Amino acid sequence: MGYSSNVYKAAADRLFERRLKAEKEAEKRREEVYKKLPRVKELEKEISSVSIKVARAVLNGKDLTSQMSRLRDENLSMQNELSEILKSNGYPENFFEPSYFCEKCSDTGYYDENGKTVVCSCMKQALVQCACDELNKTAPLSLSTFDSFQLDYYEKSTDIKTNISPYNHMAKVLSYCKNYAENFNKNSGSLFMKGKTGLGKTHLSLAIANEVIKKGFGVIYVSAPSLAHRLEKNFFSKKDNDPINDMLLECDLLIVDDLGTEFHTQFSISEIYNILNSRILSLKPIIINTNLNLLELEKIYSERFVSRIMGNAEKLDFMGTDIRVIKK
Ligand SMILES: Nc1ncnc2c1ncn2[C@@H]1O[C@H](COP(=O)(O)OP(=O)(O)O)[C@@H](O)[C@H]1O
Ligand SMILES: [Mg+2]
Ligand SMILES: [Zn+2]
Repeated sequence: MGYSSNVYKAAADRLFERRLKAEKEAEKRREEVYKKLPRVKELEKEISSVSIKVARAVLNGKDLTSQMSRLRDENLSMQNELSEILKSNGYPENFFEPSYFCEKCSDTGYYDENGKTVVCSCMKQALVQCACDELNKTAPLSLSTFDSFQLDYYEKSTDIKTNISPYNHMAKVLSYCKNYAENFNKNSGSLFMKGKTGLGKTHLSLAIANEVIKKGFGVIYVSAPSLAHRLEKNFFSKKDNDPINDMLLECDLLIVDDLGTEFHTQFSISEIYNILNSRILSLKPIIINTNLNLLELEKIYSERFVSRIMGNAEKLDFMGTDIRVIKK
C-alpha cells in the first residue's frame, strides 16, 4: 500500500533513531570496559593495526605467504587474549556488538535475501505506526490512562435492580482492559463496550490505545461521527486517496467510539458496516463502544450485524453514575 512521503520519512527516522541508540550504547559499553581494563583497548588497537600491516604486505607482494601466516598467527593470539580477558571479567562475547531492535536488518529497514534487497517487517510495522500517528494527530490520545482511571467513582453497594455492585463490576472491567492491553497482539480478540454516557468507555478505550501504541502497534482511534463525516466528505469530493481508507483495514487495532451516534445516512451506515465487517472477516481486532442499547443499535445497523459483532467480541457492560456529573 502507498503512504505519504511524511509517513515514509517518519518511519525512516524512527529506524534511524533505533540504530543510533543501539550503536551509542555499544560504544558506551566499550568505553566502560576500556576504563576498567586498559589492556582491552591496547589489544583492539593492535588488532586493527594488523589489518593495516596485511594491506601493506599485499601491496609489497614480497614474501607474501610467510608474512601473511605470521600476521594471521599474531592476530589470532591477540583475538584469543581479548576474548579471554572479556570472559574472565564476566563479559559476554558479543559485549561490544550493538544490540539492535531488529536483528534481522540491524535497524536499517532492509536486508538481503538471495542477492535481492527486501523491506524488513520492522520497517513495514514502523510505516503502519507512523501512518496511524498521522491519523491520530487530533485524537485526545494521551489524556486518558489506566493510572488516571479511578474505581472510587463507582458505587460499592449493590444495585437493587441488577443485584450487582458497580464498583466490583467495574473493577473486573478495568482488569480485563489492562490485561487486554498488556497482552495485545495482532490476533487479539475484539471488545464491545456498552453503557450509558459518562461511565468511562472512552477513557478506557484510550487507555488501551496508549498502551498498545507503546508496544509498537499501529492503532487508530476514531469516533463514529467523525469517521462518517470524513468518509462522506471523501466520497462526495471524489477523494479516494485519503490514507484513512487503507489504514482502517490495515492498522493493528481500530477503535470506533460512540457507534450509533453518527449522523446516519444509508451511505455512512453501509461504509461503517463494510469496514467493521472486513475486519471481522480478516480477524483483525476492533474496539467498539456505544451509548446505545442493543435494540437501538439493531435499528440502525440491523439485527444480523449487531449479533455478528457481539459474536466476535468480548462484551463489557459499563455501570454506575455519570462521572462527568460526579466530577463537577
Ligand atoms: N473511572 C474513571 N476515573 C476517572 N475519570 C473517569 C472515569 N471514568 C470516566 N472518567 C472521566 O469522565 C469523563 C467521561 O468519561 P468517558 O470515558 O468519556 O465516558 P463514556 O465514554 O462512557 O461516555 C471523561 O473526562 C473521563 O476521563
Ligand atoms: Mg464516550
Ligand atoms: Zn528489521
